[in-house]
Amino acid sequence: MAEFTETGAARPRRSCLYMPGTNARAHEKAKTLAADVLIFDLEDSVAPDAKEAARAQVSAAIAAGGFGRREIVVRVNAMGTPWAEADLRAAAASGVHAVVLPKVAGPDQVRAAGDLLDAEGAGARLWAMVETARAVLCAPEIAAAHSRLVLFAMGLEDLAKELHAEIDGARTNLLYALERSLLAARAHGLGAIDAVYPAFTDDAGFAAACAQGRGLGFDGKQVIHPRQIAPANAAFAPSAAAISEAKAIIAAFAEAAGKGQHVAVLDGRMVEALHAAEAQRVVDFAAAIAALEGEPTA
Ligand code: COA
Ligand code: MG
Repeated sequence: MAEFTETGAARPRRSCLYMPGTNARAHEKAKTLAADVLIFDLEDSVAPDAKEAARAQVSAAIAAGGFGRREIVVRVNAMGTPWAEADLRAAAASGVHAVVLPKVAGPDQVRAAGDLLDAEGAGARLWAMVETARAVLCAPEIAAAHSRLVLFAMGLEDLAKELHAEIDGARTNLLYALERSLLAARAHGLGAIDAVYPAFTDDAGFAAACAQGRGLGFDGKQVIHPRQIAPANAAFAPSAAAISEAKAIIAAFAEAAGKGQHVAVLDGRMVEALHAAEAQRVVDFAAAIAALEGEPTA
């Protein structure tokens, strides 16, 4: 499996594609797809009587490799289920980049999973799914629970089910959960990935959801179908216009700094150090995407 270094928010995770752990065709197909992240799922897309077989199949697929530059992730079954420990041990042994812990109910579960990975001597990082009422309410404690934790992944389908909510187009009724989780993630230096959009043939709805997630501050989108990859990659990458604007901001601030000033003006707008820093993040992220896309895909 390709090695990569964690660069926090700069590691592109624009599109995180789920594949049922038992779907060999999807695992093969993924080698040709432009997803930044591949998530082999052992949880809700796998029937209870297929859990053991899926675990073995996923470990074998990861060991066989061929996924090139893509970040490889396994979603295990939730802590407290009969499969969680064996899933975590198998994921640790397979050398995956990260393990997704679903239906997190509190910080103790993240600590227990992280400690188990520590004991196994695994290199895997942890992602926590925020998809229960408890997880939203104790998101700050979960975000600080273990040093392996690098990211929150939103799960709005499970959350809506628990709340008895109906997800509307603009997700207004779930905005509090999205924003609270994002605040907790950023306060603890974590990445944050927006929820899946299940209606995978609804291109306009998907684009709107991506634009909303991007605007809120999410790093990328969990996706379920190849058709959603290109639009997610586009939505969560800085546009050409955003990159040139960022470069202009950096240049304007550097010019002012050269004259001993700490405030610049660009096109009638004030530019301060914080704007230059954010512009630098945009330029660095664009460079990380270009570097990733320049790597071999298989
Ligand atoms: N990963 C990789 N390839 C996928 C894929 C996925 N998630 N979903 C579909 N494909 C492939 C199919 O294999 C097919 O390729 P092929 O014709 O070369 O074999 C192509 O994309 C078109 O698939 P399509 O016929 O449109 O989809 P489908 O009806 O077979 O499957 C789903 C639809 C929703 C069942 C399927 O996309 C899926 O299983 N998604 C992931 C579900 C999941 O993991 N859920 C858990 C997290 S929420
Ligand atoms: Mg879920």
